[in-house]
Amino acid sequence: MLLLEVLFLEEPCMSVLPVRFSTYALSIAGLLISLIGLAFDGLWWIGVGVFAALVTLGTFDLLQRKRTVSRNYPILAHMRYLLESIGPEFRQYFIEADTDQVPFSREQRNLVYRRAKNDVDKKPFGSLHDMNAPGYEWMSPSLAPVHITDQNFRIVIGENRVQPYSASVVNISAMSFGALSPNALSALNEGARNGGFYHTTGEGAISPYHLRGGDLVWQLGSGYFGCRRDDGGFDPEKFRRNAQRDEVKMIEIKLSQGAKPGHGGILPAAKVTREIAVTRGVPAGKDVVSPSCHSTFSTPREMIGFIQTLRELSGGKPVGIKLAIGHPWEWFAMVKAMREEGDHPDYIVVDGGQGGTGAAPLEFINRLGMPLDDALNLVHNTLIGAGLREQIRIGASGKIITAFDICRTMAIGADWVNMARGFMFSLGCIQAQSCHNDRCPSGVATQDPLRGKRLDITDKSERVENFHTNTLHALREMLEAAGLQHPGELGPEHIIRRLDNGSARPYISLLNRLKPNELLEGGATDHPIYREFWEMATADSFSAPSEIVKLRASKLV
Ligand SMILES: Cc1cc2nc3c(=O)[nH]c(=O)nc-3n(C[C@H](O)[C@H](O)[C@H](O)COP(=O)(O)O)c2cc1C
Repeated sequence: MLLLEVLFLEEPCMSVLPVRFSTYALSIAGLLISLIGLAFDGLWWIGVGVFAALVTLGTFDLLQRKRTVSRNYPILAHMRYLLESIGPEFRQYFIEADTDQVPFSREQRNLVYRRAKNDVDKKPFGSLHDMNAPGYEWMSPSLAPVHITDQNFRIVIGENRVQPYSASVVNISAMSFGALSPNALSALNEGARNGGFYHTTGEGAISPYHLRGGDLVWQLGSGYFGCRRDDGGFDPEKFRRNAQRDEVKMIEIKLSQGAKPGHGGILPAAKVTREIAVTRGVPAGKDVVSPSCHSTFSTPREMIGFIQTLRELSGGKPVGIKLAIGHPWEWFAMVKAMREEGDHPDYIVVDGGQGGTGAAPLEFINRLGMPLDDALNLVHNTLIGAGLREQIRIGASGKIITAFDICRTMAIGADWVNMARGFMFSLGCIQAQSCHNDRCPSGVATQDPLRGKRLDITDKSERVENFHTNTLHALREMLEAAGLQHPGELGPEHIIRRLDNGSARPYISLLNRLKPNELLEGGATDHPIYREFWEMATADSFSAPSEIVKLRASKLV
C-alpha cells in the first residue's frame, strides 16, 4: 500500500507510470517472469536473484528521504553516483593531457616515478609545451658549458652557531606521523639516510619511524608535540631531551603552512591511536587540537626570544621558521624585531600558497596565502634591504618537482628547496587525493594498518634515494649547460619568462630588487609594498598597524 502511495499518490496528476520509473517497473516485471520461469527450469533462480536485488534497491530508493534524485529515478540514480565516484580516476586515465596540472601533471608524476625507479628519464621527439604561451619560462644555456665533478650540492646553515648543519639543496618537506603511514615515514627516513639529505618531521613530533638514521629537522607546531605540557604549553625540559638527539640537526618553528595558513587542526579522537598519543605526548582516544597560533610568543620580538631559547636548549643547533606569507606588515615586523634584537632565525622556509596538505578547507587551499614566487621574492628582497640576507638562509617549498623548478626557485632567491608531494610520488603515491579519508590506495597517507603495511620499506626507501640522486643529476646537467658550478650561482638573470603581450623578459628586470641596506637607510620609496607598509610595521606587534585600522574604520580608502 505504501509503495502504491509513493508511486502514484505523490504525483497525483500522473495517471500512468513516469518513464523515469521504467527501470524499477521492468525489474518488478523481470522478477515476476523469473518467478514464473522457476516452474520450468531451476536456472531462473539467477533471474530471481538479480531482479530481487534491483527491486529491493528501487524500493529502498523510493522510501528513503535523503536523496531526491534517487526518489525520482529509482535504481537509475545509482548509475550517476557510480560514474561520479569513478570520475576522477576516469579523467586521470582517459581524458587528462600529459601537461594538465591536477594538481601535478602526468608529465611531472611520470618523471618522479622514472627517477625513483632508476628508469630512463629521457623523452623523445620534442616538447609538449607551447613556448609562445604567456607564462612559459626557460633557463638560459651557455656557449661555454662546464663539467661538474660532484653533484652533492650542499649549503651550510647556521654557520656561526655551535652546531652548524650542511644541508643538501633538496630535502624532504614536513609531513607528520598522523598524516603519513609508519611505513611511508620509515622509507622516507631510510632514503634520506642513504642519500645524505634531511627529513623534516612535520608538526606531529619525532616518531619511531623518523629514527632510522636519516638527518632530521624537528618541526615544532603550535601543539608543541614531543615537548608539550599537559595543558598544551611548551615544556623546555622535554624539548631539550629530544632536541639534543644526534639525529636532530636543526629545529623548525612552524608559523604557518601554504595550504592552510592561519588554520589550526584537529586530529580526531578516532585517529589518536596509542602510538600516535605516545609520540605526540597526548592522551589516547581524545581529540588533539593544534591551535592556529603559538602560545609561547605573541609578538615578533617575543618570537626572536623563543628562537634564542630553543637554540640554547638544543645545544646550539640552527633554529629556523617556516611560514606562508600573509599581511606584509607582519613579515616586516619580524624583520624589524630581528634588527632590533640583534638576533635572527638561522633560516626561513617559505611555503607557497600552492603547497599541499593532508586536509584543509577548499578556500584555504585555493585562495589564502601568497604563491611561492611572490612570497620568496618578498622574503629575499626584504632581507637584502634590511642587511640580513647574508646571515639568514632561505629554503622554499611549493610544487617543486623538476630540476628546472629547483633552478628557477633558487634563481628567485632560495638557497635550497624542500619537496613534500614529490617525495610522496617517489613512495608510489598515485595522486588519488584520499589523504583525508584514510583510504589512500598506495599506503602513503593513511593510518589504516592494512593499507600502510603493504608499502615495502626497503623497496620504497631505494626509490626515495634514487629520486633524490637522479634529481640532483638532472640539476647538475642543467647547471653544466648553463656554465655554472653550483646552484648557488643561479640568479634572476638566468630565467626568462614570456609575458602576456608576447614579449620575453629575464626575471632580473621583473623582480624590482632592493639595494643592500636600502630599508635601513629610509629608501625603497619606489617599491609600493615597502613604501606602504615598512614604516608602519613594529617589532612589538603582529597586529595591523593603527594607520590601517583607522583607515578601515573611516571607510575612506
Ligand atoms: C600529507 C601532507 C602533510 C603535511 N604535513 C605538514 C606538516 O605537518 N607541517 C608542515 O609544515 N607542512 C606540512 N605539509 C606541507 C608540506 O610540508 C609542504 O610545505 C607543502 O606541501 C609544499 O610542498 P610540495 O608542493 O612539495 O608538496 C604537509 C603536506 C602534505 C601533502
